[in-house]
This record gives sequence, C-alpha cells and structure tokens, in this order.
Amino acid sequence: MTSSERSAAWEVLVPAVAAPARSRGRALQEALRQAVRSGRLVAGTRLPSSRDLAGDLGVSRGLVTEAYEQLTAEGYLRSGRGAGTWVGEAVRAARTPARDLAPRPRGVHAGFVPGTPDLSLFPRPAWAAAQRAVLAGLAHEDLGYPDPRGLPRLRTALAGLLARRRGVVADPERIVVVSGVAQATTLLGFVLHARGTRTVGVEDPGSPQHSELYAAAGVSTVPLPLDGEGLEPGALRASGVRCVVTTPAHQFPTGIAYSARRRAELLAWARSVDGLILEDDYDGDFRYDRAPVGALQGLDPEHVAYTGSVSKSLAPGLRLGWLLVPERLAAEVVERKRTLDLGHPSLDQAAFAHFVERGDYDRQLRACQRAYRERRDTLVAALAEHFPGSRVSGIAAGLHAIAALPGRHGPEERFLARAAESGVEVRALTQYRHGTAGAAADGEVRLVLGYAHLTPARIRAGVELMAKAAGDGVP
Ligand SMILES: Cc1ncc(COP(=O)(O)O)c(C=O)c1O
Repeated sequence: MTSSERSAAWEVLVPAVAAPARSRGRALQEALRQAVRSGRLVAGTRLPSSRDLAGDLGVSRGLVTEAYEQLTAEGYLRSGRGAGTWVGEAVRAARTPARDLAPRPRGVHAGFVPGTPDLSLFPRPAWAAAQRAVLAGLAHEDLGYPDPRGLPRLRTALAGLLARRRGVVADPERIVVVSGVAQATTLLGFVLHARGTRTVGVEDPGSPQHSELYAAAGVSTVPLPLDGEGLEPGALRASGVRCVVTTPAHQFPTGIAYSARRRAELLAWARSVDGLILEDDYDGDFRYDRAPVGALQGLDPEHVAYTGSVSKSLAPGLRLGWLLVPERLAAEVVERKRTLDLGHPSLDQAAFAHFVERGDYDRQLRACQRAYRERRDTLVAALAEHFPGSRVSGIAAGLHAIAALPGRHGPEERFLARAAESGVEVRALTQYRHGTAGAAADGEVRLVLGYAHLTPARIRAGVELMAKAAGDGVP
C-alpha cells in the first residue's frame, strides 16, 4: 500500500482518535462502520495493516486489531490469513433499505415537492473510484487555473454524451462547464444585459428560478402563456421579446413535451427576430415510455443556447453543469465565466470526465430510470385508487407529474392546508404561475407531484394520507 492510499484510508478515522481514552476503541469502530456504510470506504478497499494504522493514528495496535475483528464479525470488513483486511461487498447491498430511513423534517410524512432526485442513488463507490483515479493521474500542472471553458477532457466527453443522448450539436470548443443551469442562466443574463437586452420571456407557469436569476443579472422577465403544445407563438410574438427561456423536453412544471410543430414555430420565431431561445434541459435524461425528444438546440444551434446539469442525474450538491451558446455569444460567455470564478474546479471536472468516459454516467442514468419509472407507476396507481376520476399528465418523462383532482376536492387552499396538516407537503400548479392567477375556476385542484426522491412505500402512504385529509373535508 502506498502512503497516499494509507492516508485516504485513515483520514476518516482521525476524529475518533480525539475521543476520550475510555471510549476511543468504540469511537474508532463506529467511525470505520460509518465510513463503509456511507461509501467513503468502498468495497474492495484494502486497509492498512493494524501496525501501520496504529502508528499513523497514534493509538495502540490492540485498539486497531480489535476494531478490525469486530467489523469483520459484523460483515463490514473481510480478512484472509496473510492477505490483510479489506472492505467487504455485502455491506453495500445492506445499505439500500436505509434509504427510507433518511431523516425528514419533523411532522412531514411525505414531501412531494418537485426538484430533487433520490440522493441515496448517488453512486458513491464509482464516484470515489473516479476521484481516486483522477488524483493519482493528474500532473502537478493540471492543478493550476483551469481553462475557463472547462477541462478539454471533460468538454470532449460531454460533447459525445450530449450528441448521443440528446441530439445536441456539441463542438467541445463551444461547451462551457458551469456550476449548473443556475450559473448558465446568470452568465447568459450578464451577456444579454451587456448587449442591451433588458427583458426576456419565461414560461407561465414556469420555474421561479428563471426569473430570479435573470433579475440578479439586471434583466426582467415577462411571463408568456402556454397551451397544450408549448409556448403560445402568438403571445410570444406580441410580447416583443427577442429572448425566451423554455423547457421543451418536459416543461416545468406542466410536464408537457413541446410538439414538433411548436418546436418548429419557436425556431421560426427566433430566426425572424434574430433572437435566442435558452433551452433548459433540466431533466431531459429521464423518459419512460415515449420516443426520445431530442434537444431543440440540435435543430438550430445558432438560435438556441442549451444548458443542463447533473443536478437531477447525480446530485445538485455537485454543482456541475454545461452551457452551449451560439458562436456569436461564445467569447463573451467564456469571458464572463472567467471573471466570475476563474474556471470550474479541476478535480470535479476530471472526476466527472472519468465517470462519463468509463460508462458510469450511462449506468447511473439507467439505474435511476428504472427506479423512477417504478415510482411513477406507483404514483399513478395510488392516485387512481385513492382519487378516482383524477387525471394524471406529464408522466412520460422527468421526475414529477401533474394530477388534476376532481372539483369536489377544492377549493385548492383548503386542500393544501389539510394535506399539510396530515403531514403531506405538496405544491399546486398555481403556485408556479407568475403574477396573481388564482386557482382553477372549476374548483379542480392541480398538483405538481415530485416522486423521484420517494420510495414506492412512501408514495403510496403519502397519497393515502392526502386522500384521507381531503376526504375529511367532503361532507
Ligand atoms: C426548471 C429548472 N431548471 C434547472 C434547475 C436546476 O438548476 P441547477 O442545474 O443549477 O441545479 C432547476 C432546479 O430546481 C429547475 O427547477
């Protein structure tokens, strides 16, 4: 074992050494257990010899031997005569049920608020392996300030990935690695503002993030209505804007996929006003039972800026995403990125490149897709059972669905209040409307139900609780 491997292994144990002498042994065992459970020490990782680890930690060898023996007995570690001690395989599988035990805010039994993937599906072992491989392979000079566009290795990997999965026209020279769709929006906002743009169009209903981020760049937003096919072209034209933000693969929050006709109309509009469409492909990777809808950008890369991130596919906490802009904006966007933060962290970029190159990203997407499809089916079935007559839409893709409940469940405020009282956090579609639009006139309650982060059992329980709360209100 090299000294760097050794330090990776024992760093996680250092806090345990600070425990009082009397409880140090137990603290050491618990720290090791936690490190394995959390995936920080991945299956197959070889641990230092008890002599080496005791020396590195400054504790007695007996304490380490005891910890190794105890965790071996529990199945966390394995050892072979003369072969040393390593992290066992079985524990990884044993971690899965822990998902449902994740701490929740007190009083909330099920939170259907959309926007979060299942964070327990984050592939810790593969990510840890990518980080280790990258750290071992990076030259010293690779740790200097990165190219503000991003590491060439990652841009190349992303270009292949986005072309293959999303039909994006992705020249690595034109990709900018950013910290998410949020930063992509802000960068573009700054660039548009510098070019004199003061207003951009946003979808209504839509993500409040878009307006907030543009406002931070000094650009105001004008809400534009949707119909069943996407943004209404007439309203778009009448608004006078030359830049519009869209979520065409799975509109947020209504869940519709823009029709082919509407996509063509949108592009025709952009060309006619020499305008720009910002395509936010926030959950375009997940689609269940319909033909893939390719990115709009692939049809006209000079009138569409395309952005996406790993926030839904891996974890929002990674803060990693990408932006592709038309040639005429590329230099200004890169310069903005440079003056903002001198480039994205190199180690994260290199780890993600490694992850993509090895096929781990595709594997992750497949695993999530399987889990989310099952959850979506569970949600649809639970709604049919507990809310007969409800209509569910937006379910072909993404991580959330829209449920329109029959009028007898209204008014909406009362429904939401009762659901909250029974421990179900839920959002109504009207909460994503810009301005003052109220609940539907027919008394129908339309809910935006994020399901990806909930286990099937919790989805069923949440819908049942909601129905009970709603039923209590029906005379
Ligand atoms: C419509 C939409 N786009 C993008 C994002 C994610 O942004 P980021 O990639 O910066 O995490 C969100 C976050 O919830 C969102 O609702």
